[in-house]
Parts: sequence; C-alpha cells; structure tokens
Amino acid sequence: MALLQHGGLTLRLKFIIKQPLLRSYSTCTGIRFAASNNSDIDMATTFAAQRAPSLLQRLADARARTDELFRIVRPEALYDRPIPERHRLIFYTGHLEAFDWNLLGRRHFNLPSFDPTFDQLFAFGIDPVGGGLPKDVPEDWPTRAKVSDYNQKLRGALDDRLSASFDSRSENSAESQQLLEVAIEHRLMHAETLSYLLHQLPLDRKFHHADSPAPSAPPAQPHMIRISAGTATLGLRAQKNSFGWDNEFDEHQVTVPEFRIDAYKVTNREFLNFHSSGGYQNRSLWNDADWNWLQSSGTSHPSFWIFHEGKPFLRTMFDEIPLPLDWPVYVSHAEASAYARWSKKELPSEAEWHRAAYGIPSGAHNLKHEERAFPWGEELPSANRGNFDFQKWDPAPVGVHPAGASGFGVHGLLGNGWEWTRTIFAPFSGFKPFPFYPGYSADFFDGHHFVMKGGSSRTAACMLRRSFRNWFQPHYPYVYTGFRCIEY
Ligand SMILES: [Fe+2]
Repeated sequence: MALLQHGGLTLRLKFIIKQPLLRSYSTCTGIRFAASNNSDIDMATTFAAQRAPSLLQRLADARARTDELFRIVRPEALYDRPIPERHRLIFYTGHLEAFDWNLLGRRHFNLPSFDPTFDQLFAFGIDPVGGGLPKDVPEDWPTRAKVSDYNQKLRGALDDRLSASFDSRSENSAESQQLLEVAIEHRLMHAETLSYLLHQLPLDRKFHHADSPAPSAPPAQPHMIRISAGTATLGLRAQKNSFGWDNEFDEHQVTVPEFRIDAYKVTNREFLNFHSSGGYQNRSLWNDADWNWLQSSGTSHPSFWIFHEGKPFLRTMFDEIPLPLDWPVYVSHAEASAYARWSKKELPSEAEWHRAAYGIPSGAHNLKHEERAFPWGEELPSANRGNFDFQKWDPAPVGVHPAGASGFGVHGLLGNGWEWTRTIFAPFSGFKPFPFYPGYSADFFDGHHFVMKGGSSRTAACMLRRSFRNWFQPHYPYVYTGFRCIEY
C-alpha cells in the first residue's frame, strides 16, 4: 500500500491535505481529538459530515491517512519490495480498498463484483515464518492504472451503499457498525505497517517530509521502579458500543507478584553498550532459534542502525542522522531477549506489563479505580501524554512526556515504540474468531509470535485502548518496537 494517490479518483470523498497531516480527529471507542491547524480536510462534499458522523467521518479520516502515505512513494518505486518478506508496494495500493470491498461491499451489502480476480489478488497480505520469501516479479502485477481504476470503482460503489445504509436507520445495525470499525482499524493498522515498509525504502525512492520536533526535557536517568504485587485486568468485556478485535475477548484478571521494571524504554545509548561489548557475537545470550536467525541473516546490529566509518547512525524515515542516544532502540524480539539476558534481567510478561502500566501502588488512598484506563488515568489520549497518533514519523527521546507516566511512575508506556513482552501470542479464554475474518488472530496462534503492547508514533489513538494486543514474529526487525526489562 504505497501508491502515490489513488490517481485521479473522483470519489465522493475529496480531501485537501496540507503536509504534514497531523491529527484531524481520530476516534475509536469514542476518542475524539480537536482538529489541528496543520490539517484541513474539506468534507463539504461528503456524506460523512452530515450523517452518522462518527464512523463515516473516521473512515474518511483513515482514508486520508493512507492516501497521504501512498503519496510518499516516487512513481518509479511503486513495484519495489522494501522488505523481502512482504508484498511489493503495488499490492498495498489495492489491498486497502479490496479489504473494505470484500468485507462491506461484497459480504455485507452483497454488491456485484467489478473484478473477482482483483478481489482475490488484493485480499490478504503475507507473513512468512521461517524462510519462504515471495518470488514474484513486477510483471506479475497489474498496472497502476488498472489498480487505480479498480479502486475508484470500489470506493464509489461502497460509498454510495454506505451513504444509503446510514441514511436509512434500519440498516445502521450493530453488525454494519462492527464491520465499519473493522475496516477503519484495519486501515489504520496499515497506516502504521506501511510506515515500516516505507521506512525501508531507499531515501531516493520517496519524497522527503520534515518531522515534527519532539518536546525538550532533561536527559532521562535510567532506573528501575518497584511494582507491588497486585491484579492486572487483561482483555475486554463484551458490551454494546464497545469495539475490540477477536483476540481481546474476554476480560479476565491475573494476579501478578512483585517485580521491578525499567522506568524508561531501553535507549540507543544502552543498546550501544550491549553492541560494543560483543553482544551480537556472544552465543550464550541467544537461544538456538535466535542464534540461527542471527547467523543466517548476517544481523550484527539493529536494522535501523547503519555504520559509517565505524560511527553509528540512525536511518530515520526520511534521513540518516548520528545515532540519537536518548531515543528508544527499535529491535526484534530476538535482540531484545539477548539484551535482557546480557543485563541479567527479563522481558516482562503481558500481565506484568499491564500491572506496571495500569496498576496503582498498593496503599494509595482515595483512588476511584483500582486500575486505570490509560497509564496516566482516565483522560483520553492527548499529545502531551506521549508520542502516538501520527504526531511524528520518528521516536522522541525517552522521558519527554512526563504527563504520560503511569501510577507507578513508569514513563512512555503508550507511544514512542511498541514494547516486546515474553508472552507468546495466544487466545484468551472465551476467544471466538470473527466469522467474517476468521484468520485475523487465529492464523498467528502458532507459538511463533510474541505479544507487543503500547504503541508507536504511528499508532492511531484508537489502538491505545488497554485491551489492544499487537504481535509479531521474533525475527522480524522492521517494526517500531523497543522494550524495557524487569527483574524480581
Ligand atoms: Fe491487511
């Protein structure tokens, strides 16, 4: 999904976007943000502004977000494959529209297909584990013009039907709302994973954008914080008007013994010490599978790092800069696990991460809630709480959002990079796959994916809800994911 615009589409939704597009309002679970001066989305011609504004407006916002990403790609790079394990960019230009179309247009509204071959071709991405890289060539894919034409027809037909549906309230059912939520969050997830892809695209293959500056703050001093024993509530309770993906259900509680956790994410400075001390050559720090991956891939440092004449630099989204030592390091699960062994610590479990993020110190008085909705409290996410919701392309130094600290004083839990846990991604008790998307989670309950919590600078605000779970395989080094350690 990285095309230049959906070239010349005459959609019912027309966007006028000034760069950079920061938040207009992104909502999920009812979270609503004030419009930024930096975005100007002309919704005068849309149905969204008049009817059922919440969901349809959110779909319009999400489309604007992904359309913006496609415009980063230079035309000559459209058939590039920036990450060997993923599809070529041309696939993603069709995938987002085909997904919405297959889910809402074909399945829910029973609309006739414009092109069954494209409906299938663009239906699903890939996540190969253990080799087996895709071998297709650019000539295997349709032309940009054909994909644009397909996209244009889908959006037009779908918007007509959505407009009619939300116009007649009888069709504005719980099911259609749920499916629309799925389409919106699926698209917003791709707004983040597309950023991973485009990050790996060579700088001369994309149009440059300036990043927003991070808040300034004194350098954070690494230390650990005691988390008292207590209860962590994981998952989501099924209730009306509350959306969650299949893997978030059901809500349940886990008793967590006392532990200590890093106050900040591990920084490039700290990880450079691990690297300089020979961590990538020390066999004893890696389990067998991770060591085999290290050797076969030739990995000798984080994928976002690059060395020039022995000096470390960071490949940001649009530049190469001297390694920012106070930024969180982004690494694979294998590299995070090796660092944890080197420092004689561990990665947190999913429940321990929850306890550190949402729990409240025992003995605290006059507290309305035993656990919080967000690390900082019950207030909805806002820019001063962390680096999330597309505020920036790249990370900010750890510790620059003190207003986002948890009840225990742990910083930067939401935003500025997902965080690895040692928990293998698996279903909660009560898991039921969505009948309309049975493989969303179940295809990854294979013991080879680990839970990530938190969020990155490119994570939409809606996915900052407490129950949201992300996951990746341990040897995939391109995600915006760092980590922090614990000890007992
Ligand atoms: Fe997808």
